Amino acid sequence: MTDKTILKALKGEVQKVPPIWMMRQAGRYLPEYRATRAEAGDFLSLCYNSDLAAEVTLQPIRRFGFDAAILFADILLLPQALGADLWFATGEGPRLSTIQSDADFAALKGKDDIHDTLAPVYETVRILSRELPKETTLIGFAGAPWTVATYMIAGRGTPDQGPAHALREGNTALFEKVIDLLTEGTIEYLDQQIQAGAEVVKIFDSWAGSLKGEAFEKYAVEPTRKITAELKARHPGIPVIGFPREAGEGYIGFHSKTGVDCVALDNSVTPEWGAANVQKDGCVQGNLASSHMVTGGQALIDEVRHVREAFSKGPHIFNLGHGITPDADPENVSLMIETLRENA
Ligand code: CP3
Repeated sequence: MTDKTILKALKGEVQKVPPIWMMRQAGRYLPEYRATRAEAGDFLSLCYNSDLAAEVTLQPIRRFGFDAAILFADILLLPQALGADLWFATGEGPRLSTIQSDADFAALKGKDDIHDTLAPVYETVRILSRELPKETTLIGFAGAPWTVATYMIAGRGTPDQGPAHALREGNTALFEKVIDLLTEGTIEYLDQQIQAGAEVVKIFDSWAGSLKGEAFEKYAVEPTRKITAELKARHPGIPVIGFPREAGEGYIGFHSKTGVDCVALDNSVTPEWGAANVQKDGCVQGNLASSHMVTGGQALIDEVRHVREAFSKGPHIFNLGHGITPDADPENVSLMIETLRENA
């Protein structure tokens, strides 16, 4: 039995003070992160340097005492392990070789051929499971197939995921081959993270909101359902957090349709809406606007209390609605945590 607060929330326990962690909690808003990243050379070198990746994962735990640490890595390491070229153009975000034809797809590796590339990530997880404080939960993660596919198909981030939608409509067979390979690869990748010591896994579907209706069911719900079912078959009881960002009405029923233990909510929904429509089915995570980490002050205090209160009747993990931004002030993170834990 465990008394880790995150695991209790994931089992459905309602706690007086919800546990807290923060998306992108290791990141550029922290001077110690920027220093370690400079030591590593660049972002991808940091991801593949197990000692330094473990170090940046631990930095926000030491500074703020979050209840969970999230493995430091990136959702685009899986496409790289499948054979896509990947690089980060400074100030412009990720770049990858594109998938536009059967020949591009045929050049990729199989789902079982990813582990040589990803071995340093599993080593980071092993280091963390030794070094984290006993009360801190270790979260592993991967991108959801649709979100990863949007980057693989376009070769970059896009405002509207246009190239991925074009392939989905124009060459559905090829598109579905990409989704299936990513679904299978994600299962193997997360399986290894769990074997190495991840206690929870989170599936980031950052672009789920651009899938509507039947497409949302087929390419957001179904892959997350398959991944969750297979991981739970291999690792009974492993908790899974789903994040179909900006899913809107798609959030309703997401627990039962996919089998995830927790649904992470973004800022396109209010806490009251999330409590009434999603938390009624199980644990939710979220959803303070990350802009408060930049602006701070009384508005931050009021909003932390508001989010906590709105979700106080059910299982809740406090988090932001999306990642903290590089212009955030670490003092505001401390103020968020102090406010959340007041009257504990
Ligand atoms: O949350 C954490 O602290 C864990 C580590 C983590 C990173 N990326 C580190 C990172 C996680 C969970 C991710 C997930 C991720 N990566 C997502 C899904 C979540 C989301 O934000 O919607 C996506 C879409 C990516 C792809 C990605 N990685 C992009 C688009 C970018 C560039 C954007 C930017 O902020 O520059 C990255 C780079 C990245 N991943 C950084 C970090 C800390 C910044 C890299 C740097 O140090 O310059």
